[in-house]
Amino acid sequence: ARTVGRDERGALTVGGLDVATLAEEFGTPAYFLDEDDFRARCRAWKEAFGDDADVFYAGKAFLSRAVVRWLHEEGLNLDVCSGGELATALSAGMPAARIALHGNNKSTEEITRAVEAGVGRIVVDSFQEIVRVAHIAERLGKRQPVQIRVTVGVEAHTHEFIATAHEDQKFGIPLAGGQAAEAVRRALKLDGLELLGVHSHIGSQIFDTSGFEVAAHRVVGLLRQVRDEHGVELPEIDLGGGLGIAYTSDDDPREPREIATALREIVHRECAAAGLAVPRISVEPGRAIVGPTAFTLYEVGTVKELPGLRTYVSVDGGMSDNIRTALYDAQYSVALASRTSTAAPMLSRVVGKHCESGDIVVKDAFLPADTAPGDLLAVPATGAYCRSMASNYNHALRPPVVAVRDGQARVIVRRETEEDLFRLDVG
Ligand code: LLP
Repeated sequence: ARTVGRDERGALTVGGLDVATLAEEFGTPAYFLDEDDFRARCRAWKEAFGDDADVFYAGKAFLSRAVVRWLHEEGLNLDVCSGGELATALSAGMPAARIALHGNNKSTEEITRAVEAGVGRIVVDSFQEIVRVAHIAERLGKRQPVQIRVTVGVEAHTHEFIATAHEDQKFGIPLAGGQAAEAVRRALKLDGLELLGVHSHIGSQIFDTSGFEVAAHRVVGLLRQVRDEHGVELPEIDLGGGLGIAYTSDDDPREPREIATALREIVHRECAAAGLAVPRISVEPGRAIVGPTAFTLYEVGTVKELPGLRTYVSVDGGMSDNIRTALYDAQYSVALASRTSTAAPMLSRVVGKHCESGDIVVKDAFLPADTAPGDLLAVPATGAYCRSMASNYNHALRPPVVAVRDGQARVIVRRETEEDLFRLDVG
C-alpha cells in the first residue's frame, strides 16, 4: 500500500495510523486496506486504457458494499460471478448497466436476476447457457447483451489451478475445432441475445504480456472469421484479468499502462490487417487493483524454535484468513510491525492456529531472533483472494476489513462474532 511507512519509534503505519493503535481498536487478525491506494489503482487502470475501453474490477478478488461505492465513484465497472456478488453490487448502487455476470454454471435464478436487473452483459460460457440465457430473456421480453467466453489455448505461466485458457479445463468454449465459431453462429440466431463480442481470460498472477498478446491475436482472428461468415462485425472484446502483483521482492509486475499499450497495439494492428473496425476493449483486473492495497495484521502467540530446522512463529489467524499459501504454495513476505529490532535474523515459518500442519501463512521468512509473543506481524499484499476466500474452519471468526484514509480508520466488513456462527446453526 502506498501510504504505509514507519513512525519514529519504528512501528508500521498506514495512512498515518500506527499498527499498535489499530490493533488495539480493531483487534487481530484484521485486514487493513488503504483506500487512497485502491482508488489510485482504479484511476491508473482507467487512465491506462482511456475512453475507448472499459475496466471491470473483478469482484471475486474482494467485494464489499464500500468497495462497490468506490468503484462507482472512480468510474469503474464491475465483474461479478455469483448471485451473491450481483446482489452486493446492486444493493450498493452499482448501475446494472455497468455490471458483467460471469460463471461456468450460472443458475437459472442467477441468470433471471441479472436479466431482470438489466446487467450490461452476461458472459456466456457454454452452448447450453447460450440457449438458457436467450430463453430467459425472451420470456422476460428482453434482449440480453452477451459476450461468449472462449478459450484461446494459451498456457499462462502460473499455477495450474489458476490458469484458465488452455483447453483441458472447465471454462469457456474452445476456439479449437471451430467450437467458438459455432457458438457465435448459434448466438447470432437467437432473438433473446444481443451478441456484443468475445471474452478471453487466460489466467491469474501473470507477469508476462505475451500471453495476453497471443490471446488478443486469436480473439481478433475469430472476429474476422465472424465477419467473413456472417457479415457481422462484433463491437467488443474482453481480454480478462490476470495481471500479477508483487507478493515478495522476487516478483516484478507489469504496470497497467504496459499491458494497455501492448493490447491496444496488437488489437489495432490486427484489425487494420483484417479490415475490421477496432472493437471496444475491456479488461477485468482484480488482484492488480486490490491485492497490494491491504495487509493482514496478526499477533504472535507462541514461538517455537526447532534447532537446526527453523523457528515456528504462530499467529492468531492462519489458513482461515489466507488459504493461498496452503492452496497454491503462494509466497508472502512478513514484517515485524509493532517495533524495529536489531536482533539477528532467524529463519522462520509463520503458521496459524488451525488443526493441521499445512496451516502456513508465510513459508520462509527471516524475522528478528527476538520476535516474541505479543509482537505484531504484518503480511503485505493480502487484499486479493484472502478475505474473499476466508473460511470458518475450526469455527474461526472471519476477520474484519478496516479501510484507512486520511488518518481515519473505519470498518467496512466487521469481524464475525460467535453469534454469527450460532445464527446459522439451527439444530
Ligand atoms: N476475469 C475472470 C473471468 C476471472 O476468472 C478472473 C479470476 C479475473 C477476471 C480476475 O483475475 P485477477 O486479475 O484477479 O488475477 N483464487 C485465485 C485466483 C483465481 C482467479 C479466478 N478468476 C488466487 O487466489 O490466486
